[in-house]
Amino acid sequence: ADMRSNYIARRITPVENFPKPGIRFRDITPALQDPRALRNSIDLFAERYDNMGLTQVVAVEARGFIFSAALADRLGIGLTLIRKAGKLPRDVFSASYMLEYGDDVLELHKDALKPRDKVIIMDDMLATGGTISAAVDLVRKTPATIMETAFVCELLYLGGRKKLDQMGINSYAICAFDE
Ligand code: PRP
Ligand code: MG
Repeated sequence: ADMRSNYIARRITPVENFPKPGIRFRDITPALQDPRALRNSIDLFAERYDNMGLTQVVAVEARGFIFSAALADRLGIGLTLIRKAGKLPRDVFSASYMLEYGDDVLELHKDALKPRDKVIIMDDMLATGGTISAAVDLVRKTPATIMETAFVCELLYLGGRKKLDQMGINSYAICAFDE
């Protein structure tokens, strides 16, 4: 893989038994704090998306906001927010998704995207794919075109990519972990 993606991957730190016993959490905060890792991540996304004709980066709260805002600015396009329930002030579409206990809800302003919009949907991480699937469902309620989904890292053993494949959605991740 690209030296830059390896550099980022080495700074995404595994933390055992967080937030619960048996879970290996992947902490992106060291990668954000390292200027070269942060710059590399935005460079890699920008190289991929420079000529795709995107009009908006759609970002998933909360950690997806970080990379999306930097990328949208780099590409010179806008940023569209998908937020957790109750945060957006105007009419919204809502989609619920499963968490390890119970479920949660994501929302998108109904008028956020138009027929000419070509978007990617970004989050920091693809794990089970529950979160991003709900985000795809929301954007599919609008007339925009989804080019693909994009992540800093992907946990291959949790099946998120397969879930997106089944929805007809391509996914791109800078780095991947297989355990
Ligand atoms: C984390 C991560 C992704 C999601 C991935 O978000 O940022 O959004 O889980 O998991 P999944 O593929 O199994 O859905 P989380 O809601 O934990 O917290 P955040 O608000 O800090 O982004
Ligand atoms: Mg998240």
